[in-house]
Amino acid sequence: MPTPLRHFIDTQDFTREELLRIIELIRLLKEADKARACPRLLSGASLGMIFEEPSTRTRVSFEVAMTKLGGHALYLRPGEIHLGQRENVRDTARVISRMVDVIEARTLKHQTVLDLAVNATVPVLNGLTDYNHPTQVVCDVFTMIEHRISGKPLSEVRVTFIGDATNVCSSLMMICTQMGMHFTHAAPPQYQAPKAWQAIAEANAAQSGGSLTVTDDVDAAVSDADFIYTDLWWWIGQEAEIPDRQRAFMPTYQVNEALLTRAPAHAKFMHCLPASRGVEVTDAVMDGPRSIIYDQSENRLHTEKGLLVHFVYPRLYHPSHELVDHHRGRVEAFLNS
Ligand code: CP
Repeated sequence: MPTPLRHFIDTQDFTREELLRIIELIRLLKEADKARACPRLLSGASLGMIFEEPSTRTRVSFEVAMTKLGGHALYLRPGEIHLGQRENVRDTARVISRMVDVIEARTLKHQTVLDLAVNATVPVLNGLTDYNHPTQVVCDVFTMIEHRISGKPLSEVRVTFIGDATNVCSSLMMICTQMGMHFTHAAPPQYQAPKAWQAIAEANAAQSGGSLTVTDDVDAAVSDADFIYTDLWWWIGQEAEIPDRQRAFMPTYQVNEALLTRAPAHAKFMHCLPASRGVEVTDAVMDGPRSIIYDQSENRLHTEKGLLVHFVYPRLYHPSHELVDHHRGRVEAFLNS
């Protein structure tokens, strides 16, 4: 019986228990990596990586993860494949699915990754869209579990996201409330999470026991935070809005040392990166003792390993040595004939 095809497009498609199981797999694979003994669970498998936008962490982590697991990754960027120019999403998804075991896709539009998933016959993993970034936030919750106060249950962990309602903000809001954590978004009213996102997060919280707060009061938002998280104030394509955004966010919503003095002493700083140093966060915070940004970045590697193993390993066929030898014998007999 083949394993049912599942994609990783949105954490909302998974239960809390399923997400916790993936996080435990990430923990085991990180331990294996630290012991320099990463199991080659995806030996012979291939990953197609579609990137419509630049990437450092997502690209490197997926490619290295695949190598460590014994597989292979192909970097497929616009201009080098036909997607969106001479071939539609449907044909691209169907063709690539015949050749690789899993697809990772960073697409400009969320609809594109949904279209890839509908047409692919292998798992599609969302590597960031204009709506969400689920691989990032699974990594973030794993990182919070590692760095929370020892023994503090997730149901008592408080996460404060400061700044624009980015795709990372969207995903973090969803996963934290799914996990029963307490999520606060602090931003000027015009940059706060849309009501539609809030409705999903509030439904999550009602089920999990977590909570959602959306406020423009940044001091109140950090006063009881375990983790303070920020992201870029503008992205590619929003250049014309930079003056308005600067005026709205600076200086109140910048994560700097003065703001951290208003947070609990144990509060840690997180950022998905890349960061604009001196804009949404200062160098002193990025490089300071409360910053866990590089642990967080490294955890992207372990997260991708966990996701790849979770979605791909059960679908791989592991032929017996006898079957491989049988086919090798047939081919060699032909070559020698
Ligand atoms: N955080 C993140 O996704 O980084 P990249 O854009 O470098 O992949």
